[in-house]
Amino acid sequence: MININPFSQLSNSIPPQAMQAFVFLMIILVVLGTVVDMIHKKNVRYFFENAKKAKKSAKKSLTKGEKTSVIVKTVANDILTTAELGAGKRRAAHLLGMYGTILFWLSSVVLIFCYSSTNSVTTPNLWPILWHIGAIMTCLGGFWFWLFLRVDVYSEAHPWYRIVQADLFVLSLLASASFGLIWSFCLSLNIKGLDNLFFILFIVSNLVLFGGVYWSKFAHMFYKPGAAIQKNLAEADGSRDNLPPPSDAPEQFGLGIKREVPKHY
Ligand code: HEM
Repeated sequence: MININPFSQLSNSIPPQAMQAFVFLMIILVVLGTVVDMIHKKNVRYFFENAKKAKKSAKKSLTKGEKTSVIVKTVANDILTTAELGAGKRRAAHLLGMYGTILFWLSSVVLIFCYSSTNSVTTPNLWPILWHIGAIMTCLGGFWFWLFLRVDVYSEAHPWYRIVQADLFVLSLLASASFGLIWSFCLSLNIKGLDNLFFILFIVSNLVLFGGVYWSKFAHMFYKPGAAIQKNLAEADGSRDNLPPPSDAPEQFGLGIKREVPKHY
């Protein structure tokens, strides 16, 4: 199963051009959803106004080289390893899901644009394998997060099956990866009927995932890197986003703080 290219099998019934048009449609939906989200929440306007205000209280002006160094360090640490999530399960689950999703999307694009004709023999094994591994990693990281680590369940003692709007992103992402895998499994065993059902579910979950950007947390993957760069630049030029400097008093919270990790928000 892991080395079959489901898109080349699909080309028996759907022309590759239609699959490519679908990918473009998904990209347009993401751009539209993010732009409408930015206009509605005014978050980017606030972000730039705040950065401009903070610049006035900068203690030093950074050279181009210093700015580049801050940005490179932020990309390498805060963005590529999602350092904000600290050391532990939350970060491990996120990295698994994030890199899984990147692999899944990247290999989908390569398979659809380069190897979606009926001539599946020419598909190099690498891309279908990456597609399946990406989907599996997305499911492992995503289900781990959704079932055990998300704040409602981990800290607020809500049952795992309680679904709220904030779950739209993670659930549609999980649905897309899971239905993709089951569709490929049905194709590999030649289970007629079920393969079409899971293909339709795969399409619907992608429409919800990419069409739901305005209502979901999808756009955090663009906002978070921008915010991390701004925060580290503000740290380096001394403006600290107009926040007070950290206290240099010793951290004395008493012994009670060690009794239980803080998790009741
Ligand atoms: C392809 C890229 C990415 C994917 C697929 C992805 C996926 C996810 C998912 C599924 C969640 C859980 C959402 C929820 O609360 O329901 C999440 C949360 C989060 N993501 Fe990402 N993410 C990506 C990129 C990033 C980047 C680049 C950063 C930071 C620089 C980031 C930081 C975070 C943070 C801080 C959370 C909150 C986690 C928590 O509540 O424990 N993500 N992400």
